[in-house]
Amino acid sequence: MHFAPISILSAIALPMMAMAAAEQATSGPSMATGPVTMADFLTSCQTPGQISLTYSEGPSEATMEMLQTLKEAQARVTFFTNATWLQYMQYAGVTRHAYLDGHLIGMTYRLPSDNSAGLTDTDIKEDIGRASRTIQDLIGVYPRYMKIHESNLKDSRLLNLCKSMGYTLVGFNMDEYDYKYNSAASSSQIAEVYNAMFSKQMDAYGRKASYVVAGYDVPTTGAAVALPKVINTINAHGYDMVRLDGCTNERTPYKKDPILNNGFVGDDRSFGAKEYRHGQVNVKTIAYNPSNSHGNNAGAAPMPDGSANKNVAPSHGGTAKVSMGSKMESAVAVVFAIVPAIVYAWL
Ligand SMILES: *[C@@H]1O[C@H](CO)[C@@H](O)[C@H](O)[C@H]1NC(C)=O
Repeated sequence: MHFAPISILSAIALPMMAMAAAEQATSGPSMATGPVTMADFLTSCQTPGQISLTYSEGPSEATMEMLQTLKEAQARVTFFTNATWLQYMQYAGVTRHAYLDGHLIGMTYRLPSDNSAGLTDTDIKEDIGRASRTIQDLIGVYPRYMKIHESNLKDSRLLNLCKSMGYTLVGFNMDEYDYKYNSAASSSQIAEVYNAMFSKQMDAYGRKASYVVAGYDVPTTGAAVALPKVINTINAHGYDMVRLDGCTNERTPYKKDPILNNGFVGDDRSFGAKEYRHGQVNVKTIAYNPSNSHGNNAGAAPMPDGSANKNVAPSHGGTAKVSMGSKMESAVAVVFAIVPAIVYAWL
């Protein structure tokens, strides 16, 4: 039976991956060809002391609030855009705003029906291409950094296809737990997650690590409310906020083509270019009113299906539930998706 060793390794591999990432000064994603392995997922930065905040599942109302906070902090993050929401003018505006404010735009991807079985490689590539083109229509460049939805992380065929298309698969070595601390009262715990992580690292190793943080920019999480405190905590510990291109020293964080693997491009805001920025300053905590602006109709929001009036967006609160439900298994899923190939070789 190969299952027992695989599941034991799966249970320990993610913490190990996070520890290894925290310990190593340079552990960017592997550029090697061949099937996807754990090393293909970007989980830490090139330079100790850097921290890359990444947010998935937006744009949403939460993203708008976060952009204000980030502007005040003069800080840059990475947003993995869900192209489905861009059919609504309001959310398309948010993503464009994020891009123009100097944030890095990546993309999320999720298979139709969460299953690649009935799809050809071409079908999948075209589907990814459609999402990417929707983003490019808005910001002028095709995303390179990709976050695969939790429920698809076991699909090695999808992962291999994305890699072969030139996408950089992004994981994380720190979870800010914004889906757990999602009430106004509990959201202050999110900054405490950062505080504890930085302190433990310093106690254990006497030096800074680097972090790729997973967050969700939707109103049903505490991400937006927590952000001012999070930034001030990062500042207090002397970490440097960077976009994922700054984290990887990558000057070309966008693709030339949504489907073909034929090269990459940078823009004025990319790492090394004249408008590239990193770092942050303290923010005065902005008073939010969660009952008015956060997820008050969470779960009741209709999903965009193309039939809605595209100028009137539904309040975007329902999607986070999906990630919350599958979050615990997602840690395992990351490992299941990439470990078996390695484990198999050991057995
Ligand atoms: C994008 O959002 C839609 C609507 O909530 C959802 O059905 C879809 O799975 C999401 N896509 C990704 C890549 O997360």
